[in-house]
Amino acid sequence: MGTQLFIVKPRYESALLEELGGFGQTLAPGVLESKATELAASDLVFARQVLPNAQIFTEASVGLLAERAFEAVAPKLDGHGSWALHSFAPDDPDTSWREASHGPRAALIGARFAELMNERRRRTAREMTEPDEARHLVQLLLIDRERLAVSMVEPVKLPDGSAWPAPWPAGRVPIEEDKTAPSRAYRKLLEALAWSGASIEPNQHCVDLGASPGGWTHVALSAGAKVTAVDRAPLEAPVSGHRALKEIKGDAFQYAPDHAPVDWLISDVVADPEKSAALLLRWVEQGWCHRFVVQLKFKGQGGYRPAFEALARLRKTRPHARAKQLFSDKNEVTFFG
Ligand SMILES: C[S@@+](CC[C@H](N)C(=O)[O-])C[C@H]1O[C@@H](n2cnc3c(N)ncnc32)[C@H](O)[C@@H]1O
Repeated sequence: MGTQLFIVKPRYESALLEELGGFGQTLAPGVLESKATELAASDLVFARQVLPNAQIFTEASVGLLAERAFEAVAPKLDGHGSWALHSFAPDDPDTSWREASHGPRAALIGARFAELMNERRRRTAREMTEPDEARHLVQLLLIDRERLAVSMVEPVKLPDGSAWPAPWPAGRVPIEEDKTAPSRAYRKLLEALAWSGASIEPNQHCVDLGASPGGWTHVALSAGAKVTAVDRAPLEAPVSGHRALKEIKGDAFQYAPDHAPVDWLISDVVADPEKSAALLLRWVEQGWCHRFVVQLKFKGQGGYRPAFEALARLRKTRPHARAKQLFSDKNEVTFFG
């Protein structure tokens, strides 16, 4: 009988534990375990990835860990269609902006696992494909140097069309570097859009609240959208003065659209989480936007109740709305739907 493992941003384990109703324990920074099988299906705010029904092996070498993974998974994969492989380590506990330092070792284990499949299970090896096309997802999580968790699962489709477990290793969406963006915040919007499975389309109308210096507006303008950007502070190059941009100097919380609904509400405004949650709920309940990506920002550890409560209320109007602490997020939760 396996166990459920969840990938969480290091230092947010207690937030995830609260969501799990206390039914779990921290195995390593950024890795939580729960024996409760039904929790693997839950779309939790602080879980970026799940490894359902995982087995954990302890061995000293890359070769032996790959052997254990092969023995655990190969018989279950034979004759069961396409599969994809993720091999990864948790987030780095010091920065949480990259993979932990044993990430390269996890990649070696994945490579050796694929070699073993090729050597010993030719036909099954040929069924390996991309995660969004595969029937099964094999995940190899190198918890620490010598402990490897092995999970194989058929991802489920969530009501919004996305898959759970997420199709990116550790739920880390690969984001291309954009040196022209006015701020690095653009990463958070791109990541949220990938999670939501939707994209901003040419000529759509986006309202960006708390837009300065302009990273999110830059993403929307680059997609060919028209943007109304509201902030007390000015936007910076290259977005300021863009012909598809209407810049409004003012209070994001007082702004209402002239013509509703707009295609997108995007907001990264710095404010109390209760205030940002109320703003999101107002926009959705008034029918002012079709789609949204809105961040709630927190101070200190704990106190995430406003996020959980806002999500519950939001789902009364938008049953498929989701909220996640994304890889690029700091002490933040991103709502999308
Ligand atoms: C994290 S920054 C936004 C970064 C931006 N999304 C980007 O990609 O560059 C938060 C912004 O919220 C703005 N802000 C805070 N309170 C505001 C308010 N009441 N009305 C308008 N803007 C506000 C700040 O001026 C700041 O520019």
